Amino acid sequence: MNVADSEVVVSILKGAGYSPTEVINDAGLILINTCSIRDNAEQRIWGRLSALGHMKKKNRDLRIGIIGCMAERLKEKLLETDQLVDIVVGPDAYRELPLLVAEAEAGHRAVNVLLSREETYADISPVRMDKNGVSSFVSIMRGCNNMCAYCVVPYVRGAERSRNPESVIKEVNDLYQMGYREVTLLGQNVDSYNWKNGAAAIGFPELLSDVARLNPLMRVRFSTSHPKDISDELLHVISGHNNICRHIHLPAQSGSSRILKLMNREYSREWYLGRVNAIRTIIPECALSTDMITGFCTETDEDHKESLSLMELVEFDFAYMFKYSERPGTKAARKYSDDVPEDVKSERLSEMISLQNRLSARSKRHDVGKTFEVLIEGTSKRSEEFLSGRTSQNKVVVFPGENHSRGEYVKVTIERCTSATLIGKLA
Ligand code: 5AD
Ligand code: SF4
Repeated sequence: MNVADSEVVVSILKGAGYSPTEVINDAGLILINTCSIRDNAEQRIWGRLSALGHMKKKNRDLRIGIIGCMAERLKEKLLETDQLVDIVVGPDAYRELPLLVAEAEAGHRAVNVLLSREETYADISPVRMDKNGVSSFVSIMRGCNNMCAYCVVPYVRGAERSRNPESVIKEVNDLYQMGYREVTLLGQNVDSYNWKNGAAAIGFPELLSDVARLNPLMRVRFSTSHPKDISDELLHVISGHNNICRHIHLPAQSGSSRILKLMNREYSREWYLGRVNAIRTIIPECALSTDMITGFCTETDEDHKESLSLMELVEFDFAYMFKYSERPGTKAARKYSDDVPEDVKSERLSEMISLQNRLSARSKRHDVGKTFEVLIEGTSKRSEEFLSGRTSQNKVVVFPGENHSRGEYVKVTIERCTSATLIGKLA
């Protein structure tokens, strides 16, 4: 999400005559795009800021800005940092950046953290910052209307709004012309994408199939789906288009219905498993990944075991796993006590990570002997003689591939695997 936002910001500033540099010491303006989801993300930014303080002492003309979620959440605190931060801009005010930067250059503090009900940056062509030139992100909506008890996103990114589908289609077409062959449609909850045009409305299944139909050589991914909203209609759209990737990121957060209720996730363990069943039935070759939180308020050993057993039952191919981190202003911070001790959170997290490592290894071993279509992203990090790409299931494949190059599709038969990678040869 933040990469996509940074690309919009670069585009806006380029339009005002600025250009990006790879060399931080050459910069006259440094903007840090921030995330507030967990406390440690914010702590890293404070660390970063104190390092930049030294640069600013040496270069009085340097301007420093904090943009994104942390700007939204901590405007006052950021402005108190010893004159270090000149610009504070929330996620819906990037269009104002040229004005705000000019104000900062004139020696004033420049701030805009107003949230909007409409802003989607639909008309802005992001300046692509990815390195491979093959896969890119397109934001299809902003904000979130769900109220998960632990989550700060609705407060820092505002209410949900969908982007005009024509601008999405145009951006995907432009990416194809530029040589891209994979696009990930992004939103906090893509299943609730809803564009109203007079009496007609376009939902996510329709948008996804419109994007997929643009070009069979353009792979389409999307993230993130919400288990309460992912519909059979969507699953049938995926199964009906070969270029929609066979991978769904479906954050479970917990395997305990009691905790899910406290989290305000609006589904139970049984509902989640039911949705997984539907995925397995309608798209049998689909990979599944998840987000899990350990140590949410009141979580017992029993609840934790239910999370582990859900992971075992589903056999996730991949998972992001986090210790619960209380975020000021959220329902959990206001109403519940963060009562699972830090050492218990850590223990549960390591147990969960070991389990997922076993599941990920098993999922890769299942692929040995099979042949996959791989989109080549470049050469392998370890050796120039090997190419690297991904399967539709989002698994990284490395193989010797003379006479082929990035952006091409090839068939690869998997011969062996390491913990992170499938290794194969051209079929
Ligand atoms: N503590 C820990 N993890 C969190 N996430 C969101 N808020 C918190 C929090 N307060 C995780 C969820 C979400 C992912 C993006 O970040 O798992 O899906
Ligand atoms: Fe946060 Fe829940 Fe919205 Fe995801 S769906 S961004 S976890 S409030």
